[in-house]
Amino acid sequence: MRPETGTDQMLELVLGLPDQLERGADLARAVALGRRRRVDSVLVAGMGGSGIGGRIARGLLLDSCPVPFQVCSDYHLPAVAGRKSLVVVVSFSGNTEETLSAYGQAHRRGCSMVAITGGGELGRLAARHGVPVVTVPGGMPPRAALGYLFSALLVTLEQLGICTSQQSGLKEAVRLMRRQRRSWHSRARTIARQLKGSLPMVYSTSRMLDPVADRWRCQLNENSGVLCHTNALPEHNHNEIVGMGRPARVGRLGVVIALLDRETDPRTRFRLKAMLDITLGAYRSAVLFDTEGRSRLARVFSLVMLGDLVSVELARLLNKDAMEIGRINRLKETMAGRKR
Ligand code: PA5
Repeated sequence: MRPETGTDQMLELVLGLPDQLERGADLARAVALGRRRRVDSVLVAGMGGSGIGGRIARGLLLDSCPVPFQVCSDYHLPAVAGRKSLVVVVSFSGNTEETLSAYGQAHRRGCSMVAITGGGELGRLAARHGVPVVTVPGGMPPRAALGYLFSALLVTLEQLGICTSQQSGLKEAVRLMRRQRRSWHSRARTIARQLKGSLPMVYSTSRMLDPVADRWRCQLNENSGVLCHTNALPEHNHNEIVGMGRPARVGRLGVVIALLDRETDPRTRFRLKAMLDITLGAYRSAVLFDTEGRSRLARVFSLVMLGDLVSVELARLLNKDAMEIGRINRLKETMAGRKR
C-alpha cells in the first residue's frame, strides 16, 4: 500500500531502518579507501540528521577506540584536527554550509579524509580533491537516512582500522529490528498518547545512550514539531534535580523518559529511582525504557527505533506532517541569501 501522508511516508522510512543499515554497510565496503597514514584522532563533521550518526558511533566506540573521537557540528574544526587526523565529513544533502566549512578546513590542514553524502557540493568537492566518497541513496529527509549514514560511517571506521569488526553487532541489530518493529510500533502509539501536550524530558543513563537521547530530541523536534529537553544521569543529579518542576507551569508538562541499558551503572539505576521519588510532583509522569538485544549496537538501535516511531506517532496525534521542517528550510534559504 502506498503511504498516504507525509507522516505515513516517514513511518515507512523508520520501519526501513534495518534495510538501510545493511545497504549502507555494503556501500561503504565497496569504496576503495586507499593506503592511509596512521591517525591519532578521529573527527566526524556533520549537522543535524547527518551528525547524529557520528554521535551514535562515538557513543558505541568510546570505550574501545584507541584514539580520541570527536564530533564537530560547527563551522570550525577543533585545533586537534591536523595531518594525523581522520576527518569523516557527513552531509546527506552535501550542501550544508557548516559542514562544507569544516570540509574546507580539513582539506587545507591536510587531514586524512572521507566523505559520506547523497551528492551536492560535498560530493563535487570530494571528487575534485580525490577524497573517497561513500554515496548514499537520496530521496528522503536526512534524518530518515540514519541507517545509511551510520552504517556507512561505522564500516568506514572499521575498514580504516579505527575499530574492530562490527559485523555481528550490525547483523543482530538488523535481525532484532525486523523482528520487533511491529511490536515497538504499537508501544510507540501508547507512548505518543502519553506525550501529547507534554514537555518530553529524555534522560540517558550511560555514555553509550547519551546520543540516543539526542536522537529522541531531534526526532521529536523535527518529526513531531515539539520542544524536548534532554540531560544525562548521573550529572543531572548534581544540578537539574533542583530546577525540576520550576516554573510550575513547565513542571506540570514534564514527562520523564529514562533510557536504561544493562551497562547503566547499578548506582545510576538506583539514583534514577531515588531522584524520581524526591522530585515527585515536579513532573507529570515517568516512563523507563531498557534496551533490548545482546550487542551494544543492537541495544542502541532498539531505543533509536522506538524513539523514531514515537516521534512519528506523536506527529500523527498533533496533525503535524512528520516530513515538514519549514523553519529549517526557511533559515537555510535566509543564510544562503546572505554571503559572508
Ligand atoms: O533532519 C534534517 O533535515 C536536518 O537536521 C539536516 O540533517 C541538517 O540541516 C543538515 O543537513 P544535511 O544532513 O543535508 O547536511
